Amino acid sequence: MKTPHILLVVGGGIAAYKACELIRLIRKAGMTVRCVLTDGGAQFITPMTLAALSENEVFTTLWDLKNETEMGHIQLSREADLIVVCPATADLLAKMAAGISDSLATTVLLATDTPVLAVPAMNVRMWQHAATQRNVAQLRGDGVQVVDPDSGAMACGEYGPGRLPEPVAIMAEIERALGSALSTPPAGGRGEALRGKRVLITAGPTHEPIDPVRYIANRSSGRQGFAIAAAAAEMGAEVHLIAGPVHLPTPPGVTRIDVETAREMAAAVDVALPADIAILVAAVADWRTADAADQKIKKTGGALPVLQLAENPDILAGLASDPRRPALLIGFAAETEHIVAHAQAKLARKRCDWIVANDVSGDVMGGQNNAVHIVTGQGVESWADLPKDQVARKLMEKIVDAVR
Ligand code: C5P
Repeated sequence: MKTPHILLVVGGGIAAYKACELIRLIRKAGMTVRCVLTDGGAQFITPMTLAALSENEVFTTLWDLKNETEMGHIQLSREADLIVVCPATADLLAKMAAGISDSLATTVLLATDTPVLAVPAMNVRMWQHAATQRNVAQLRGDGVQVVDPDSGAMACGEYGPGRLPEPVAIMAEIERALGSALSTPPAGGRGEALRGKRVLITAGPTHEPIDPVRYIANRSSGRQGFAIAAAAAEMGAEVHLIAGPVHLPTPPGVTRIDVETAREMAAAVDVALPADIAILVAAVADWRTADAADQKIKKTGGALPVLQLAENPDILAGLASDPRRPALLIGFAAETEHIVAHAQAKLARKRCDWIVANDVSGDVMGGQNNAVHIVTGQGVESWADLPKDQVARKLMEKIVDAVR
């Protein structure tokens, strides 16, 4: 598979600094990136920063070519698989919508036939202004993918929609936009390999309320489970994805059920049965508070509040002994030490067919890559550190071989 190449257009705005983290994530996902920095963007970050992070030359003006053999704006726009405009200012969106080409960035955007993903960030009133909304509608009509900004407190002191989404959420949009380029079905006619099979997947963390505003959670991002759901759907399966609270788009062709707590997840799994294959990737909270408070627990200045915990249902173990047990039942094991030994013990204890074990002592939870061991009754297979979507596809290929 070809390495995806991103052209990142960095506009002017305080959110420009988040482009630095985005470059790191793009590269961590195994893609290459080249940057175009607008004059406004250069007021917030330097070309040197972007060059160092992308390990590529940074382009800033239309007029810096010294001879014809250097890369011009047409070539810049054509070599990319996806152009990402981040942050996309109100001014950039307006120029894109009107087809104005008065800088390198806007010229590249006008000259391209490559898909464009724009990630707006601006003051809430600028975002809500009729002119900006008209431009966004125009751009969407023209086929540009415009991400909705987040809501929250803004650098300018106001509150509302206009914040740049977090880089991990932008990364998920990039992967989705690249879609077909990234998810070319593997050779060997596996595109239909799971046609007629019903696959049940759990993903993400669970949130266990303490009171109406607080909860117990963990660092699971849901990325690995969502990638597996996407890979299963690509192979023609009927996929039911039961997702804890995550900020991820639903993969194409997947039926998604959103839940919050472990008990809600258990109930949703029950409703989704029967299934031919179940892959329980969710990082389900082991405990919940025995009695979540109806009102916000207040500081009293005296004794500290005591959290009484109760054990959550074990969905995986429950499925293993259910009369509707899927023919292939796969669990995940997030471990910080003795990974394979703990996974083997878990395989026996939970009576599932495979355990996919990973070391979560680094930044796997929330990260882009995963190094896993597949522990089965037949032995252990250890895979190299791979982007999560590649782990997903490899796992689904192994599943296809097992259920054939
Ligand atoms: O016991 P542990 O949490 O390490 O087991 C991990 C595996 O069990 C994962 O597949 C997870 O989705 C599943 N699990 C579950 N219900 C729980 C706890 C874990 O389905 N309450």
